[in-house]
Amino acid sequence: MPAYAVIGGQWGDEGKGKVIDYLAGDVDSVVRYAGGNNAGHTVVNEKGTFQLHLVPSGICWPDAYGIIGNGVVVDPDVLVHELTEISGRGIDTSRLYISERAHVIMPYHVVLDRYEEEARGAAAIGTTGRGIGPAYMDKTGRIGVRVGDLLDWDALVPMVTKILEHKNAIITKIYGGEALALTDVLDKCKLWAEQLKPFAQPTEQLIQDLLAQNKRVLLEGAQGTLLDIDHGSYPYVTSSSPSIGGACTGLGLNPQAISGVLGVFKAYSTRVGGGPMPSELHDGEGEAIREKAQEFGVTTGRARRIGWFDGVAGKYSQLVNGFTGLVLTRLDILDGFKSVKVCVAYEVNGERLDRFPANTGLLAQCEPVFEELPGWDEPTASVTELSQLPKNALAYVRRIEELVGCRAQIISTGPRRDETIQVEPVFV
Ligand code: IMP
Repeated sequence: MPAYAVIGGQWGDEGKGKVIDYLAGDVDSVVRYAGGNNAGHTVVNEKGTFQLHLVPSGICWPDAYGIIGNGVVVDPDVLVHELTEISGRGIDTSRLYISERAHVIMPYHVVLDRYEEEARGAAAIGTTGRGIGPAYMDKTGRIGVRVGDLLDWDALVPMVTKILEHKNAIITKIYGGEALALTDVLDKCKLWAEQLKPFAQPTEQLIQDLLAQNKRVLLEGAQGTLLDIDHGSYPYVTSSSPSIGGACTGLGLNPQAISGVLGVFKAYSTRVGGGPMPSELHDGEGEAIREKAQEFGVTTGRARRIGWFDGVAGKYSQLVNGFTGLVLTRLDILDGFKSVKVCVAYEVNGERLDRFPANTGLLAQCEPVFEELPGWDEPTASVTELSQLPKNALAYVRRIEELVGCRAQIISTGPRRDETIQVEPVFV
C-alpha cells in the first residue's frame, strides 16, 4: 500500500494533528519527516486532549507505528518527557521508532537560538526558541550530532569536545554569554544514549519494509509550506522543508511511493512570529476570530496573527506540493459572520499581482484584494455530511477549492474525530 502525505498549506497550525489522528485509524504507520519540537499538534480523543510536539500524532491509535524520520531534529529531553506523559495517560509508546540519522538538538543549540534572535533586533524571526535553526545549521554545516552518534560513545566524546569548543567561543566571544561545561553536555549525551537506544532504528528501511508488506504509511507534515526554508517567505521561515520534497529527503522515501498529497488549510489564515502576511486583519474581526478559535500557540502560547483566507498563497502552495486533495479545517469558526472574505489577488503600487512573490520585501508591500461572500447563521459546527452544510458555507468551500485549484476531500467542523465531513475517500 502506498504512502500518503498530510502537509500544511499555510503558515502552520492548520489543524494537521486532528486530521492525522482522524486518518490514522486506517493506516499502519504515521511518520514525521521534518521540524522538531517547534511543532505543536493537538489531538482530541476519548482519552482526552493531547498536545504533541515530537511524537507522531498517530500514536494515539493502538495499532499504528510512530516513526520519527531522519529529517526531524530531536530534543531528547522533550521527547522523553512527552513519552512519559502520554504513556502515563494510557497510550502505548512501544511502537515508536527514531531514525538513527535524525539530528539531535544539543543544549548549545537552544542557547544560540535565543542569542541569535536577540541579535536580530527589529528583524527578529520570532522563532520558537527551541534550537531548531541552529540544529539544522549544524546539520548542513556537517557538525551535527545524530541519534546514531549518541550510541557510539568513543567516537562521540572527541566529536562533542571539538564542537563545544567552537560553540563556546561563539557564545562567549560574540554574545558575551557563559560557556557550557563539557562534562554537563557529555552527561546529557550519556543519559540520552540510554534513553533513545531502544527506539533508534534505520527507519528508511523500516518504512520500505512496511510498504513492501502492503502497509499504509501516513507522512505527517509539521509547520506549513509558507514556512518552508526554500519555498516560504524567506527569511521569515523555519529551517526545514515542510513541503512535499521534505517528505522524500526527510525519510529516505522515493516519490513514486507517495500516491496522495493532502493539503491542510484553515478556513482563514494564521501566522505566528514575524514576516509578511498580506491578508492579515488588524481590526475587531481578527480579534473576534482569535478569541473564538483560541488562536494561541500550542508550543509558545503566543497569540497568532489572523487574516482572511489567502487564495494567492493557497494557489502557490498547491503549485509547490501538487495536492491531490484538500482538507479544510475550522470552518465552524466562521459561523455567524455576516460576511466572509477571501484574498483573490494582491496589489502593489496600483498593479495587480496574481502570484505569491519570492521577494519578501515585495510580499510585505502587497495589499490584499478581497472578495466578499455572504456569511451563514446556521452552524457548521459538528456537521458530518456535506448536504447539511449551510448553502453559503458550501459556496465558501467551493470558492476556496477554485482558488487553490484542488477539491476538498475532508472538511473539519470541530476538534473531535467525529466532527468531520468525509467528502471523498482519501485512500484509493
Ligand atoms: P523556528 O522553527 O523555531 O526556527 O521558528 C521560525 C518561524 O517558524 C517562526 O516564525 C515560528 O513562529 C514559525 N514556526 C515554527 N514552528 C511553527 C509551528 O508549528 N506553527 C506555526 N509557526 C511555526
